[in-house]
Amino acid sequence: MPAMTSTPAAREFSTIGVIGLGTMGAGIAEVFARNGYTVVGAEQNDEGVARGRQHLEHSTGRAVKRGKMTESEQAELLGRITLTTEMKDLADADLVVEAVVESLETKKAIFRALDDIVSPDAILATNTSSLSVTEISTANARPGRVVGVHFFNPAPVQNLVEIVRTVVTEPAVLAEVQALLQRLGKNPVVCGDKAGFIANTLLFGYLNHAVSMYEHKYASREDIDAAMRFGCGYPMGPLALLDLIGLDTAYEILDTMYKQGRDRLHAPAPILKQYVTAGLLGRKSGRGFYTYEAPDSPIVV
Ligand code: 3HC
Repeated sequence: MPAMTSTPAAREFSTIGVIGLGTMGAGIAEVFARNGYTVVGAEQNDEGVARGRQHLEHSTGRAVKRGKMTESEQAELLGRITLTTEMKDLADADLVVEAVVESLETKKAIFRALDDIVSPDAILATNTSSLSVTEISTANARPGRVVGVHFFNPAPVQNLVEIVRTVVTEPAVLAEVQALLQRLGKNPVVCGDKAGFIANTLLFGYLNHAVSMYEHKYASREDIDAAMRFGCGYPMGPLALLDLIGLDTAYEILDTMYKQGRDRLHAPAPILKQYVTAGLLGRKSGRGFYTYEAPDSPIVV
């Protein structure tokens, strides 16, 4: 169990619940397990559990292959994670992080259900990218114990986590989550509850603009990406990054931000919706702006 520190906000967290084991949820579960926490990961069915397990094995297997972890460390890490289809298995969690699809109704149903499952002093967090944390929190009887914790993809690699406080988030809850994330080696930043928070508000105007440029055949996808990688030092070009994020997720984020802020920078470029409708979702479906053999393989074309 992780050691207790002496800072005033140092609450002891032992078991972390993660709901939803897609790309983000599995990554978040890995982050906590890497830091010695016991993790209970919940999915709605056996296929979801199998997908989550595969994701965790693959991601930690990559660390083994790169010599960053031994096979026995990998086995210990995976041994700290229990996967389940039963929400009631989250009963012992000190913190629950919800990372399911960006659907307000689904998230609210989860926060409602958690009322009868977790202890009254547990902290509940949503990894939403753009939905209202306030609205999600009101589904629960203890909205003061709800915060947003917005991890970035890939969660085990990106150090930023945005902590989103609502007007009723208890200051002690905020401080405890901040301290916990720092103990994970993350860089937490705090912001209010506005669609997009800090990073997505700034990032997605740029990404959307890149899609427009591509749609209007102003430049090739390779040249748009090369311009930002080699001219501005970004680790990935905008179209390759959109493929990593998932075009469906990107569309939802832009659409929500546009509906809330009416900033035309965030009006989703039409081609984005067309790609999503056609099932071109980026790396996870094998094709987006580029084509891939597997979700983490290099670009094929
Ligand atoms: N899962 C876990 N670890 C991963 C990973 C993954 N999917 N992808 C890469 N890594 C790890 C590698 O194992 C390696 O770890 P090591 O240094 O300990 O050996 C390290 O990351 C670097 O990987 P690579 O050498 O294979 O590749 P790169 O140096 O090209 O890095 C990248 C890959 C980390 C994805 C880098 O290109 C990058 O940072 N890209 C930008 C990502 C970004 O902007 N993310 C934010 C998206 S917005 C968002 O998430 C918000 C949401 O709301 C949409």
